[in-house]
Amino acid sequence: MTNKILSEESLTLQAPQHIKSQTNLSLDEYKERYKESIKDPEKFWDDLAKKELDWFEDYTQVREWTYPNYQWFLGGKLNITYNCLDRHVNNGKRNQVAYIYVDENSCEVKITYGELLEKVNKIANGLKSLGVKKGDTVTIYMAMTIEQIASILACARIGAIHSVVFGGFSAQALRLRIEDAKSEIVICSSYTQRKGKKAELKSIVNEATKDLDLVRKIIVDSRDENFELFEREVDLQDLMSKQSSICKPEVMDSEDPLFILYTSGTTGKPKGVMHTTAGYNLYTHYTTKMTFDIKGDEVFWCTADPGWITGHSYIIYGPLSNGITSVIAEGSPVYPAPDRFWSIIEKYRVNIFYTAPTAVRMFMKLGKEWPKKHDLSSLKILGSVGEPINPEAWIWYHKHIGLENCAIVDTWWQTETGGHMISTYPSFDTKPGRAGLPMLGIEVDVIDKEGNSTKVNEVGFLVIKQPWPSALRTCWGEPKRYEKYWTEIEGFYFAGDLATKDDDGYIMILGRADDTLSISGHRIGTAEVESALVAHKAVAEAAVIGLPHEIKGECIAAFLILMQDELTNEQQSLSIKEKVRTELGSLAVPDEIHFVETLPKTRSGKIMRRVLKANRLGQDPGDTSTLED
Ligand code: PRX
Repeated sequence: MTNKILSEESLTLQAPQHIKSQTNLSLDEYKERYKESIKDPEKFWDDLAKKELDWFEDYTQVREWTYPNYQWFLGGKLNITYNCLDRHVNNGKRNQVAYIYVDENSCEVKITYGELLEKVNKIANGLKSLGVKKGDTVTIYMAMTIEQIASILACARIGAIHSVVFGGFSAQALRLRIEDAKSEIVICSSYTQRKGKKAELKSIVNEATKDLDLVRKIIVDSRDENFELFEREVDLQDLMSKQSSICKPEVMDSEDPLFILYTSGTTGKPKGVMHTTAGYNLYTHYTTKMTFDIKGDEVFWCTADPGWITGHSYIIYGPLSNGITSVIAEGSPVYPAPDRFWSIIEKYRVNIFYTAPTAVRMFMKLGKEWPKKHDLSSLKILGSVGEPINPEAWIWYHKHIGLENCAIVDTWWQTETGGHMISTYPSFDTKPGRAGLPMLGIEVDVIDKEGNSTKVNEVGFLVIKQPWPSALRTCWGEPKRYEKYWTEIEGFYFAGDLATKDDDGYIMILGRADDTLSISGHRIGTAEVESALVAHKAVAEAAVIGLPHEIKGECIAAFLILMQDELTNEQQSLSIKEKVRTELGSLAVPDEIHFVETLPKTRSGKIMRRVLKANRLGQDPGDTSTLED
C-alpha cells in the first residue's frame, strides 16, 4: 500500500495503511490525549514517569514551577544507565544487540546489552580509580564508536557530568569547552575515520590541553595504533582490563545534572546547555517510543554523531531506554561509495532511518540510481531533523528512500529542548515542509512580540508555554543567559525560530528569527526563499542572506550549489529568479545570485549565513569555531 496524496494543492499525504493500522497512536486518539495532557500536565507526566521508568525511590512532587525555573520529579532517585541497560539485561534482553557498529571498510562490531553493561561498568570503575566522583565533569572527544558511547554511559553510571565535544571541532574550540566545563578528565580516541583517511583526534587533544594544568588525566582509546603515552595519559583498554565488570549505579537525584552540551548562541561564546537526569530520561524515552512507533524489536539508525544533541537523545539515551537495536556508522556517508548508507540499510534490515535534510539533498544530488541498487523494503519510518526540510527534498526522500511506503516524521526540536517538540506521529497525515503538531504534553504557540497568538498562516515567534521534563535547566555557569529563554517574551520559552500555523494547527518552521529578512517592510524567512530556490531543477542547495538596499531596506543575495553538469550562466540565473517569482512572488526574488562550490556549514550541517554575509560585505565573520570547512 502506498501513501495517498489527498490534496495536490496543499500537498497533504496520508500515512501508508500498514503503518496506520498498527501504530501506537491515531490522530483521533492523539487529539483526545493531547487535550488531557495540556489540561493537567502534571498528571500526564506523573503517569508516564511511573509507567516508563524504573526508580530507586519514588519522587514526592511531579513539578515545581517558579518562573523562570522549574524542577521535575522532585525527590526521586534513579540512574539513567539502569533504565538504559540493567533493566533490559534483567528482563531477558542480555543477549539482544544494542549496537551494530560499522566502519568505512564495512567491518562490523556487534555488542549486546549484557556486554555493553559490562563495558560501561569497567570504564566507570576505571574513572573511579582515577578519582572521578559524582558531580565532576568529564570531556569526551571521541570517534563515533562503541567505546565513545560506553564512555558517555560510564560517566552517567557514576554521576559524573559528561560534556561531549564533536570530534570535528578544532583544538581551540575543544580547549574553550574543557576550560569552561572545568573538566579535569578528558577521554579521547586516537583518530576517527574520514573518507578513507585517519583524522587525528589525539594530536588535537595534545594541542588543546597544552599547558592546561586543569586537566589531570587524559584517557586514550588507542584503537589499532601503538604510541607512547605522556605522563598524565592512560590507555583506555589498559584501564578497563584492571577493572571489575560490576559497578553499582550511583543513586542520582532526579535533578542531578546528567550532561552539558555546548551549542552556538547569538554571541561568540558557545552556551553549555545543561540537562538533568529524570526529566531527560523520561522525555527522550517517550519521544523515541512515540515518534518512531517503537514496539521493541526495531533496528533503528540515527545518522547523527553522539557529539550533538540528536546523538545524545536518539542514538544513546532514547533508543537504549526503549531496549532496541541501533546502527552506528563511523565516517563519511558516501565513502567508499555513494550508496554506503543504502547498503547498510539493506544489510541490517533497518526499520527506522533518521537523518538531516542536508544529507537528503546531498543524496538527491548524487542521484536516485544509488538507493535504487538496494533493497530498502525493511524501512518503515523516515525521520528528518535539524533544519526545515524543503518539500522537494521531502518528496525525494519519500519516493526514493521510503519507496512511497514509509511514514515521514519531520521533528522540530533543539539542544535546549532535549527531545522532539513538534512532529507528526507516524499515523498522521503529513504536509511536506510543515513539521506538524506539538508532541503530547507540549503546549506550543506562534505569537507576536506582545505575546498575542498570530492568525492562521501569519509569521510569528515559535514559543512553548510551559516547562516540559527535558527542558534545559540552565546554561553552565551563565544563569542570566538561561533566563533569556524565558524572558525574551515574558512568560514563554522563546525558541528563536519563526513559524506559521495552518488551519489544522500544523506548524511550519521558517528558520531562525535572526535569519529573517525584511524586504520592503515584508517579513520573509530565509528558509522560505531557499525552499523556493531548491525547487528549481538545477539547484542542489541554497543559502540566502539579506543585504542592505537603498530602496527596499534589505534585498536578497542567494548562494547556490547547482546539480552536476548544470550551467552557471546568466540564462540559469534568470530561470532561477523566475522560479522564485512563481513560487513566492516578486518580493522574494533575489537581487544577486552567486554560484558556489560549497556553503559554509557548521559540523551539524547548518548553513552559517552570517559567514556568507560577512564575506559578501567584507566584514569580520566573528566566531567560526563551528565551521566545518
Ligand atoms: O532552527 C531550528 C532548527 O535547529 C535549531 C536547533 O538547533 P540545535 O540545537 O543544533 O538542534 C538541532 C537538532 C535538534 C532549531 O531552533 N531545527 C531543528 N529541527 C528542525 C529545525 N528547523 C526546522 N525543522 C526541523 N525539523
